[in-house]
Amino acid sequence: MATTATRTFARAAFRSTPATSAFKTSSRNTSFSLPRQTFRQQSRRGYASEPAAKSSSTGLILGVGALAIAGGAGYYYYSQGNGSLLSGSASETTGVFVPKQEDYQKVYNEIAALLQEKDDYDDGSYGPVLVRLAWHASGTYDKETGTGGSNGATMRFAPEGDHGANAGLVAARDFLAPVKAKFPWITYSDLWILAGTCAIQEMQGPTIPYRPGRVDKDIAACTPDGRLPDASQGNKHLRGIFYRMGFNDQEIVALSGAHALGRCHADRSGFDGPWTFSPTVVTNEYYKLLLNEKWNWKKWNGPKQYEDKSTKTLMMLPTDMALVSDKAFKQWVDKYAKDEGLFFKDFAAVVTKLFELGVPFDETTQQTPITFKPTA
Ligand code: HEM
Repeated sequence: MATTATRTFARAAFRSTPATSAFKTSSRNTSFSLPRQTFRQQSRRGYASEPAAKSSSTGLILGVGALAIAGGAGYYYYSQGNGSLLSGSASETTGVFVPKQEDYQKVYNEIAALLQEKDDYDDGSYGPVLVRLAWHASGTYDKETGTGGSNGATMRFAPEGDHGANAGLVAARDFLAPVKAKFPWITYSDLWILAGTCAIQEMQGPTIPYRPGRVDKDIAACTPDGRLPDASQGNKHLRGIFYRMGFNDQEIVALSGAHALGRCHADRSGFDGPWTFSPTVVTNEYYKLLLNEKWNWKKWNGPKQYEDKSTKTLMMLPTDMALVSDKAFKQWVDKYAKDEGLFFKDFAAVVTKLFELGVPFDETTQQTPITFKPTA
């Protein structure tokens, strides 16, 4: 991460104060002693109005000469669209558009540019809600029946989009609408996961290898309500939900570190507030705060949630606190609080697994994963 931090630091020197300055300022005045985080906050991307990333950063780490992606969803018959090849870098000889790695990087760059441009949302970034969209698309997976998962994008349809757990995710889907219009060859399922991948990387998180090949399914494939976790519950519920997807205790704790990002919205889940002081940067602060802060029940007219004793500005859900009250979970909280490198490594692995739940990669789609080059 050193390179990312250095690069971002260098760029940050030319930036104006981010739109989130009020939130960030309050974080600097707290009694929390977080040297790494402070550096990250100061050096994080600003999400302020600033020039789009230079075209020199559009290359792929794996090189542009890579093989064409031949996944099932990788074909786009341009006769079904508006007749134009908007991305334009693939062979046109057969009339079928076969996207290459460089085409997916273009989609990545477009999302990254939009993240920078649309900085007047929440804490200054749509990044967290994009991560949540990708997670809720994937987290419906049931390993017994093979149903749900990121293959299908069935949240587009009311039966699933209207599930209580998905409240507010329309903001993420609307954010991505112009990207889909510009690159009509990509499936919604691939786009949502690419967006989650992009958001994590652009918020200074670890590299998440990406494989395309998801197909969009129709309304009949919508999953039943109740497959995503209920934040008001405890350790048994967490294990029930995540074991169903095929995860173990360590992976449950690593995945939960995503709550370093974003916030709860009273008009969506009913809960309110952010988990950390840097909700647009991937860090291990969630674990540190879980261990080092004193958490009390919040006294308010809303669902039961915790607030930090020191500032009363942060929150934890009952499911978050289950990670420290359950011994098997807590040993991983301890590890990730101590070692951000370990958290980044395990987070990248478990998010990759999450984002591929229910995707039937077969021999023809077992291509080298794409490593997107971050623009931040
Ligand atoms: C462990 C069980 C989990 C529970 C009970 C849970 C619950 C919640 C709730 C209630 C919210 C607030 C939604 C709102 O009001 O806008 C939220 C937000 C969020 N969750 Fe989770 N979550 C869980 C796991 C995860 C996982 C595995 C990820 C990703 C890997 C994740 C990523 C996020 C993000 C990024 C947000 C912020 C969204 C925003 O700022 O709009 N969560 N979660």
